[in-house]
Amino acid sequence: MVIQIAPSILSADFSKLGEEMLTLEKGKADWIHIDVMDGHYVPNMSFGPMIVKTIRPFTKIPFDVHLMMDNPMDFVDEFIKAGADSITLHAEVLPHLHRSVAYLKDQGIGAAVALNPSTPLQVLDYVLQDLDMVLLMSVNPGFGGQKFIPGMLQKISSLKEMIEIKKSKAIIQVDGGISMENINQVAKAGATCLVAGSSVYNTGDPISMIAKLKEEGSR
Ligand code: DX5
Ligand code: ZN
Repeated sequence: MVIQIAPSILSADFSKLGEEMLTLEKGKADWIHIDVMDGHYVPNMSFGPMIVKTIRPFTKIPFDVHLMMDNPMDFVDEFIKAGADSITLHAEVLPHLHRSVAYLKDQGIGAAVALNPSTPLQVLDYVLQDLDMVLLMSVNPGFGGQKFIPGMLQKISSLKEMIEIKKSKAIIQVDGGISMENINQVAKAGATCLVAGSSVYNTGDPISMIAKLKEEGSR
């Protein structure tokens, strides 16, 4: 099974994000993962819709926008206008998750829901059929470069079963601590889209790291 790699630009060089897009094109990234942090829902801040709009013209690779923020629905339209192709909402901050997912679908973009490590899969019971993607966090969100939480492998397999039972077309994305050491296990557990920040950027050669991660995960 060929997996997809979604490099997280949280680990990229913010002083040259336009060039970083061109590098990811050369590396044939499947998605560009954009981590939006508000300093409230998560203890860190990153970028907003203006940055998304600024980097949009540099590449045709789809933008996968991961909203780690309170009141994400207040900003969804801005992110869509800025060029998001898929938006990921955290279930933990949305009391009307079904309505929020329906809103994304009505806008014609990819609809995804993220769950923190401690959030049970059951919150997806009545929205799974409507989703294009489920993002399982394999670290507590807020920072790049954290260690993968091993207990999440079981959660990935359980989600895979749940998707099969419910005949959902949602793909499983996993985010946090993905490396050459664990990507194969994570893919074998059922994830088909892997977010990778520090493992793509830390070697200084993102182009060959994307290829290596993809090969190791698809093996
Ligand atoms: C964590 C973010 C991740 C993070 C991944 O809050 O959602 O996307 O940037 O970075 P690594 O791969 O370094 O864990
Ligand atoms: Zn993310």
